[in-house]
Formats: sequence, structure tokens, C-alpha cells
Amino acid sequence: MKKLITICLALMTAVPTLAQTPVYLDESKPIEQRIDDAISRMTLDEKIAVIHAQSKFSSPGVKRLGFPDLWTDDGPHGVRPDVLWDEWVQAGQTNDSCVAFPALTCLAATWNPAMARLYGESLGEEALYRNKSVMLGPGVNIYRTPLGGRNFEYMGEDPWLASRMVVPYVKGLQSKGVAACVKHYALNNDEEYRHQVNVIVSDRALHEIYLPAFKAAVQEAEAWSIMGAYNLYKDQHNCHNNIMLNKILKQDWGFDGVVISDWGGCHDTDEAVKNGLDLEFGTWTDGLMMGKTNAYDSYYLADAYKQGILSGKYSTKELDEKVRRLLRLFYRTTMKKNKPFGFLCSDSHYEAALKIAQEGIVLLKNEKVKKSKGEKMAAPLLPIDVTKTKRILVVGENAIKMMTVGGGSSSLKVQREILPLDGINVQCSMFNVQCDYARGYVGDTIQSYNGVTVGRSLYETRSQAELTAEAVEKAREADVVIFIGGLNKSNHQDCEGHDRLSYDLPYAQNEVIEAILKVNPRLVYVNISGNGAALPWIDKVPAVVQAWFIGSEAGEAIASVLFGDVNPSGKLPFTWYASLDQCGAHALKAYPGTWREGHKIIDEEYKEGLFVGYRWIDRLKVKKSKGDKVKSEPLFAFGHGLSYTTFQYGKVTADKSSLTADEQITFTVPVTNTGSRAGAETVQLYIRDVESSVERPFKELKAFSKVFLQPGETQQVSLTIDKSALSFYDDKAADWTVEPGDFEALIGPSAGQIVTRYSFHLQ
Ligand code: BGC
Repeated sequence: MKKLITICLALMTAVPTLAQTPVYLDESKPIEQRIDDAISRMTLDEKIAVIHAQSKFSSPGVKRLGFPDLWTDDGPHGVRPDVLWDEWVQAGQTNDSCVAFPALTCLAATWNPAMARLYGESLGEEALYRNKSVMLGPGVNIYRTPLGGRNFEYMGEDPWLASRMVVPYVKGLQSKGVAACVKHYALNNDEEYRHQVNVIVSDRALHEIYLPAFKAAVQEAEAWSIMGAYNLYKDQHNCHNNIMLNKILKQDWGFDGVVISDWGGCHDTDEAVKNGLDLEFGTWTDGLMMGKTNAYDSYYLADAYKQGILSGKYSTKELDEKVRRLLRLFYRTTMKKNKPFGFLCSDSHYEAALKIAQEGIVLLKNEKVKKSKGEKMAAPLLPIDVTKTKRILVVGENAIKMMTVGGGSSSLKVQREILPLDGINVQCSMFNVQCDYARGYVGDTIQSYNGVTVGRSLYETRSQAELTAEAVEKAREADVVIFIGGLNKSNHQDCEGHDRLSYDLPYAQNEVIEAILKVNPRLVYVNISGNGAALPWIDKVPAVVQAWFIGSEAGEAIASVLFGDVNPSGKLPFTWYASLDQCGAHALKAYPGTWREGHKIIDEEYKEGLFVGYRWIDRLKVKKSKGDKVKSEPLFAFGHGLSYTTFQYGKVTADKSSLTADEQITFTVPVTNTGSRAGAETVQLYIRDVESSVERPFKELKAFSKVFLQPGETQQVSLTIDKSALSFYDDKAADWTVEPGDFEALIGPSAGQIVTRYSFHLQ
């Protein structure tokens, strides 16, 4: 009897425990075991449901089992305001104003991985507050042509720089329990015809230039999701591309996360089933194109897939694999216990946005200029010397235009955005400097974008002649003229969906600048953009600043650099060409490609191969022959950026002069701050393969380090590489390889200025 009571008691205690904690909810069990258990409990309908959208930005969890819906959102510069469930119209919430962080070109220009970590963490905290589990970003497509409409959302032209910056961004974001969705995988390098471009690229260029940042995000940062690109590769859309997704991403790189289609990037059930797509979003079967609402059942991975399974066309093998990946994402995000709550628009996020903006602004040019004809050479124009400045004139529409709106899916609704003119006004009033403004030209007068009304009216009725005359008259009287121009995120001006129409600055900017220069040469040109542009008056303008689209704190960041509160330390993440013919894609007329018959597909062959950005510039220099018309000096080299102090590089040494393939080699170079104020310098190491069996770029960035130096201070800057920095992708072996022989380490402050070199040998 006693025994029977014991057994009953044991059963009574055991049964509720089992009922309470099924394996899939048991946190003490390994995730894969929990996934197996969850899959075994899911119905076919539940499985089909989790692999496609249910609204513009959400997909369902599994209600019956307690998995919440999955909410995604753009990305990548802040958390986008909510749209309605099934329409692109703003939901009109009052709790979704965010902090806008600087666009990713600016982040890349900091050349500071710590800034990328800060960026990811801050964005993650904003996303958590808004209950978003997947942020649609960051973007790491390579800056191949300066016409690229979305370059501003990416991290520049160099695979190494983009890799070093994407890893901490993803890690920072995911440390908060929010998934990164790294985009747009892959070869989405121009926006024009983005749904129809079929990219033809060599395997070497693919692996050496276009894939490394994605690979680093997957293998080093362990990104939990990735977004397929709109375009095609080998005649197959990248959202269901067998080579890109099954072979490279999942098989070779071991990606265990979720492949999400770009919105409307899925086109075929069969390919979507078999070629590695896991989660379908934005297919054009609803309000977007065909006016049919609630059409999510018509998605390629919805009813059509289910019917295919029921009829025996497909087994459930692929479905279970997709569901497994989704469940893994759920456990990493929505099902993650003890997640912080996150917060929106905190002081710490504004501070992060400001810091990143200040570190990313690039001082491109800063020459001495005479104040008046009789005067001796004065100091450089920047930072503005408030003791000698009574009147400042600010010219240009971009001084008063909100830049956190526009540009496509990265457009934001911010709690605040400090405009450049407002930031400059604050500085001027602190020092009793009179600050005047002239519009100069009219670009984009749209008053509202995506439901966000601009803070300052851009309405204008005056003619161009009147605007120019006003700017010139006011400039006559000014001690310094600050022209704030560039692009503006309106259509064809750094905006998703289309590329730029030309390399020139738009509107009447050049004309106004030339007119001002005739009466006042003390002009600072501040360029707002994510791309370079032709600057035909460059020799006449003493100071040029690249200020990107830098988010909520734009005005304060720009003013702090112009007035010298901050010593600029940004470096260009791309080559700033003097003209388009210095860019390989254009020199070889490879852009935008050739339409096939029927005008449905445009083939774009990346004829320049590996020679993107500075790699092409170096090639121009190496191969230059007499009579070549194209100038080989760009306006500003990749990696270029000045400071208000000066740096001197000593001679590079190394810990060895010969290494085996298993060893590392460390180069050390002393760098001294030779000026009178504290500043930061990014020391760049490029590797040159002296002799190779294949054609290689003259040099390639393989390490860099940003050092902060007090006046007079010297630091020994060490940069370590291993054989991966010496390798190339062998297309015959379909793998990376390294050849023994002589190499050179080239070190300097930019790709255009190598100041010390070291020869070494790989055994
Ligand atoms: C863009 C993506 C974006 C998505 C959702 C697409 O048009 O290409 O980058 O994340 O829309 O807004």
C-alpha cells in the first residue's frame, strides 16, 4: 500500500511537470532539440504560415504553440515609422518617432569599428522599444559607380573596410536580441532596373570584391538573417538563386539563419521552394501593384506551395528546413527570455548619433586663403576663426532641408533633426558672429514625405536669377561663405529605385558657386550626399567638407566641425572621381548594361572585374601611356581625409621579413601628431603582390587602425595580417589560394599617399 501511494504521488508530480514544459519551451534543452519538438507539433498550415508575410512588415508566429508574430522594420539608419497593416500608408502612430543615425557611408567614413558597435547597440535599443525583432539592414553592397542610387545606405567601395564595419554593427544589434538582416545579397550595385538587371561577373570579382562583407557578416558576426537582392545573377533572381543561397551562403559559409526576400523580390514558387528562400515578403499581389488586398495566401510560398505538397509535387523536406530556420530566428529574438525593454530617443542615442556623425565627417580640402588682396597669407579657412569673423553667409537649400526623410525605405520620422543652418546659427550666436542666409537655388520643394512634414518650409517663388543675385550681394559683405549643397534624397539624387542621371551637382549649384567666387573666394563648400560628384570649381574653393546624410544631429555635427569644436577625422570610404571616366564601370561602358530582346532583362557585365574604385585608379596609373586622355588622379583618393592637426609617419618595421603560410606578420609604424591640437589619424595598410600568376590589383587594403593623438604624441601603430591578406580567389580551384613570393606592405594616410613601405617574403 505504501508503495502504491509513493507511485501515485510520483505520477501526480511528474505529469504536471511534463505538461507544463514541453521540450520546445524547455530552456534547459538545446535549441535544435526544441526546434525538432516544435516542428513535430506544427500542422502543415502552421508551417506554411511562418514562411510568408501576413502584413507589410510582419509574419505570423505559431499562436497555438505560443510563438509570437515576427515584426521586421527598416533599417538601416533608424527604426522606420509604422505603416498600416496592409498598405504603405503611414499608420499615424504618435509613439514611433525615432533618432536618425548617420547613413552608413558616414559610419564607414569613421573607419572606427567601435562606432559601428555603438551604432548597432543604439539601433537595437530603439528597435526593442518598438517591438521589432528584425532590422532590415545593414547594407553592404559595394560602391561600384557613383551614380548608384543607394550608395548612401552602404559602406563604400572596399570589401575589407565594409567587412570590418559590418561585423561590429551586426554584433551590437544582435547583442540586444534584435536580428540584423544584412542586405542586399548580392550584386545589387545599381538601382536603375534593379528588378531586371542580370549581373555577369567573374568568380574572382564576386568573391574578392562583392561577397567579403556578406561573408564576414555571416561567419564573424553570425548574422541571423540576410535579405536576397532584387537583381539576377546567372539568369536567376537572387531571392531564390541556387548558387548564391544554397551553394555559397548556406553550404560554403554555413549560414544557419533566415533568407528573407526583398519586398517583391520573389517571383516563382518552384525556385523559392528549392533555391534557399526561407521567408517571403512584399510580393506584389496586394495593394502595391494589383490592387488586391489581403492576398498573402497568393504568395509564392503560400497556397501554391501548400498545394504542391498536398499533390506530392514537393516533399516536406525543404519546408521543414525553412521552418527550422524560422524557429531558430524565433528562439534568438521573439522567444528570447530576459530581453531588455529598449528605449526610444534617449540622450544616449542622440549622443551616439552625434558622435558617429562627428567622426564620419570628412575634411577633403583646407587651404590657406587671403582675407583681402593686400593681406599676407592667412591661416586655412577652417576651422572658422571666430575672433576674426564678423559675418557669415550660409547659402544653399541643403542648409534648411530635412535629410532624414526621402531616399526610399530608409526614410524616417524623427523626433528631432537639427538642420545645418540651425547648428551654424547656434555657434554664431555664441561668438557674436552675424549669420545670414541665402537660398541660392531651388531643388526639391516637397513639403512632406511618407506622412512626415518637413520642419522648415521649402516654398520658393523667386527666379534663379533673383536667387543668385541675392547670394552674390550677401556674399560680398561676408567674411566667410558656407555653401551647403550636394544631393538631397529626392528621385535620382541618392534615392532608392533609380540611379543618378549624371555625375554633376544638380540644380543651379555650380552656377551659384561660380558667381559667389567672383566676389568672395573665402568659400567653404559643404557637400551633403552619399556619393561623390563633379566639382568643376574645385581649384578656386579653399575648403571642402563631406558631410553625408547624418541624421538627427546633422546641424550640430556640421557646425562643431566647421567651428573647430571637433577636429575632423573621417576618411573617404570611396574614391571621389574627378569625372565618371575615372571609374572602371563607366570607362568600359559597362553601366547600365544591354537590354535583351523583349526589353525584360538587362545584362550588365562587370567588365572592370576586380578593378573597382582605387583598384581602377591604380591601374590607370600603372598602365598609363603617353597620350592617354583620362587623368589618373581622382579628385580625392579612397581613404583621404584631413585634420586640423598634422601627422607624420615614421619608417615602417616588421617582426619578420619572411613568413610561412601559418604565420602572421606585424608591421609597426610610428605616427606623431605634429600639430597643435589633439586629433585622430587612420593608418592604412595596403598589400601589394609583387609577382603573381594571375592579374592582381596594384594594392589592396588589408588592415587599418585609427589612433587618437595629443599634440606632440607619438604612437607605435601595429597592423597584423596573415595569409588571408595575401590570398586571391582561384576561380579554377573555386577557393582562396596564396602563392609564395615577394610582397610589399604599403602604409599611408590614404590610397593615394603611400609614405612608407616594407618588403617581405612568403615561403
Ligand atoms: C528595399 C529594402 C527594404 C524593403 C522594405 C525594399 O524596396 O529594397 O531594402 O528593406 O523595401 O521596406
